[in-house]
Amino acid sequence: MARFSRQPDDTTRPRPFLKWAGGKGQLLAELRSRLPASFNAYHEPFLGGAALFFELSARRCIPGGAFLSDLNPVLIETYTVVRDDVEALIEALAPHPNREDHFYATRALDPATLTPVQRTARVIYLNRTCYNGLYRENSSGRFNVPFGRYANPTICDRATLRAASEVLKGVDLSQADFQATLARAAPGDLVYFDPPYQPVSATSSFTAYHRDGFGEDRQVALRTAFATLAARGVHVMLSNSDTPFVRRLYADFRIDSVRANRAINSRADRRGAVGEVIVVGGPTA
Ligand SMILES: C[S@@+](CC[C@H](N)C(=O)[O-])C[C@H]1O[C@@H](n2cnc3c(N)ncnc32)[C@H](O)[C@@H]1O
Repeated sequence: MARFSRQPDDTTRPRPFLKWAGGKGQLLAELRSRLPASFNAYHEPFLGGAALFFELSARRCIPGGAFLSDLNPVLIETYTVVRDDVEALIEALAPHPNREDHFYATRALDPATLTPVQRTARVIYLNRTCYNGLYRENSSGRFNVPFGRYANPTICDRATLRAASEVLKGVDLSQADFQATLARAAPGDLVYFDPPYQPVSATSSFTAYHRDGFGEDRQVALRTAFATLAARGVHVMLSNSDTPFVRRLYADFRIDSVRANRAINSRADRRGAVGEVIVVGGPTA
């Protein structure tokens, strides 16, 4: 037996450490098969759970550095702490028990009174133990998802956090609107847009996980950004729900239909396969 072999912990493949509404785990193979043969830097301006970033990192296929951003400041602080302070984070997160009283006491803490490491431990703890693993804030910006009653959730997944920290080293993380990508992306780069989805029906609340929402005007602005980047020689890829509105917006580009299982929905009867599209543009599309 090799005495100095690495712990099983250290060899974990990088993957998302948060459960995130719209997480792209299910679509990875479809997205991968539509990647350009080569690209320089990678940009993901709707970061969420960062499933495609971790997948590309695991395959070591980001040659020119990565720029990850999201409008949600809590999310960006979480990734920053995982990148820069993962051991302190693990120490702060590990003692949290999966108990209802502790969940509500932690949920009630005012984030402003905590350090960045404590805040991040709180976010990951609530994310792993809350109902459906959603991240949802009420109108005053307070996390308001109830306790999930899971038998044995993994609260502190050391191996996944360390693997994520490793591939985040050197990555540019910023809290920004997706439009900031226009100023950053250069010809030959790859941008993957995974916006809050255009609702499939009037009752769908799928776009409600950030208090700023993402209405039709933002979808139109996103289409303009997509077309501007494509015309500049940037490889662009976008996922969205398969609606007539989305198809009209991207009529000038290649639109492929794919099926995705949306696991996160507060109503079990609305879970299941829904139509999604992947739109591809840029030099080789
Ligand atoms: C569908 S999720 C991303 C899912 C992610 N790609 C994954 O694999 O888990 C959409 C993200 O967009 C963010 N967002 C909403 N409006 C935004 C905006 N105007 N600019 C940038 N990010 C925004 C939300 O905070 C959320 O994290």
